[in-house]
Amino acid sequence: MLTLSPEPLDDGGVIIDKKEMKRNDPVSSGDILSLLAARDGYVSGAFLSRELNISRTAVWKRIAALKKEGYLIDASTKKGYRLLSNEACYGKSGIQSLLKTESLGLDIRFYESVESTNNLLKSLAHAGAAHGTVVIANEQTRGRGRLGRAWESMADKGIWMSVLLRPPLHPGSVQTITLAVAVAVCRAIEPLLDEKPGIKWPNDILIGGRKVCGILTELSAEAERVSWVIAGIGLNTHSSLEDFPPELRNKATSLELHLRQGGSADRTRLAAEILNQLESVYDSFLENGPDPMLMEWRQRSITLGRVVELVQGQETLRGKALDIGADGRLKVQLEDGSVRELFSGEISLRYD
Ligand code: BTN
Repeated sequence: MLTLSPEPLDDGGVIIDKKEMKRNDPVSSGDILSLLAARDGYVSGAFLSRELNISRTAVWKRIAALKKEGYLIDASTKKGYRLLSNEACYGKSGIQSLLKTESLGLDIRFYESVESTNNLLKSLAHAGAAHGTVVIANEQTRGRGRLGRAWESMADKGIWMSVLLRPPLHPGSVQTITLAVAVAVCRAIEPLLDEKPGIKWPNDILIGGRKVCGILTELSAEAERVSWVIAGIGLNTHSSLEDFPPELRNKATSLELHLRQGGSADRTRLAAEILNQLESVYDSFLENGPDPMLMEWRQRSITLGRVVELVQGQETLRGKALDIGADGRLKVQLEDGSVRELFSGEISLRYD
């Protein structure tokens, strides 16, 4: 049965006592999971409580949350807790146990089914959610794509994830952040694949000429300052070609169809790795400016140097994609020799 209203599957309801808040970030079930996964045998409640600086009751609550997420954990009054299988369950704790980040993913809201993770995160952003808050769903019933299109988001077939960023930037620089997200996703998936993924401007990720990932960036800004940016990432991991609507079957693909030997499209690991890579690209962007990221984007681009068709409403123009600007705009030389700098918002790009 699909749930249409969001049903959190996580331990978001666990209230952390003020006296336990000794670390900057609250202790999550993912922290317990990492400690259990690191040991072959039993780990005592006293050890977990000491290590994480939380009460034994708080340990017990987080173990209960892990069991609810599907983890098989044996609990013995004498010996403590033992993880019976190392298989990751796709959910908040599994992802958090693999994070190396300082802010992205500290707060993850994981749902079985939502209309759109971007929509849900938008309301959290308006309500003041922190930089780095992430919404993930196993299924979206009204996933949204760029240019008002729908985004197919079946249960169990992909990563449907939105990340809230609050960059200290002028609204004019935001397009560049969306390019950074594509770079981060490429870094995360590349080691699993038998061929290199490429970025089609502005931030579609293609493998073998077919789209495996789309990114929908939305923002709220005042005149001089960005209030928030939401990067919505849709990555097809397990879809077979039949899962796509007929009109997309020669345009779309999924990771599982391109894995190198020994590679796995495990969504828990991938979601964590995307967040790890995104934080690294984002931090470098804020520290060093956009140039290093743009350099990597250019190397990964399959658009630059190509003859492209720009479709804007009824108008179609042809030209050669020359370069990407520091503001993320694509420079295209049209057939009459003039150069146009394009924002992604209203333009669809076509080439064979
Ligand atoms: C595109 O058209 O290429 C962008 C697709 C973006 C899809 C993702 S899935 C998670 C997030 N929630 C949405 O409703 N859309 C984005």
